[in-house]
Amino acid sequence: MMVHIPKVLTPEQVARCRAVMEKAAWVDGRVTAGHQSAQVKNNLQLPEGTPEARELGDMVLDALGRNNLFMSAVLPKQVFPPLFNRYDAGMTFGAHVDNSIRGIPGTPFRIRTDVSSTLFISGPDDYDGGELVVEDTYGSHSVKLPAGDMIVYPATSLHHVTPITRGSRIASFFWTQSMIRDENRRSLLFDMDMAIIKLARDHPEHASVVELTSVYHNLLRQWAEM
Ligand code: NI
Repeated sequence: MMVHIPKVLTPEQVARCRAVMEKAAWVDGRVTAGHQSAQVKNNLQLPEGTPEARELGDMVLDALGRNNLFMSAVLPKQVFPPLFNRYDAGMTFGAHVDNSIRGIPGTPFRIRTDVSSTLFISGPDDYDGGELVVEDTYGSHSVKLPAGDMIVYPATSLHHVTPITRGSRIASFFWTQSMIRDENRRSLLFDMDMAIIKLARDHPEHASVVELTSVYHNLLRQWAEM
């Protein structure tokens, strides 16, 4: 299940990201790559733990905490501190799967990466190429979103970023451990939540709103890992 989450960041927040990044020192993106992905990764990253990365990461985390669509689609248990990358002309990231387990820097904690997220900071007019291409059982999906919008997709998917042919593509990316490890269950709960929201909006007095909400929560109670 891939979900497009619009307007995670406001235009002002996107502008703040860009202003901070313009002055930041970028490093080779291979610093966070695993053995296989390091061989196909060619981009730049804001170093983890710098004041710039921390300020922008906190901004993203704060926005996610207030985003109902993200909460419903991902059912987060733990979000990895957001990272930031940049692809200039000629840069690319070949086919790979994200590492399954990641240590949270500066802490003894590790997360299982269930869901991958890419939050676009550059707009589609800022660059050519640079599509995120995600393969799933339904085929290959090419994604390029407006600045401030985000795509979430199963971290189990093979994916790549096509070469940039003009401009620069800046994004934030991170992983989430979900309370619902199984993708099918997570997707089922999301569909159900969306249907309940529509029903409650169109027929607020309908008795099924309460009944279905109760089924949703009882399924979540059955399946959630805390
Ligand atoms: Ni990746």
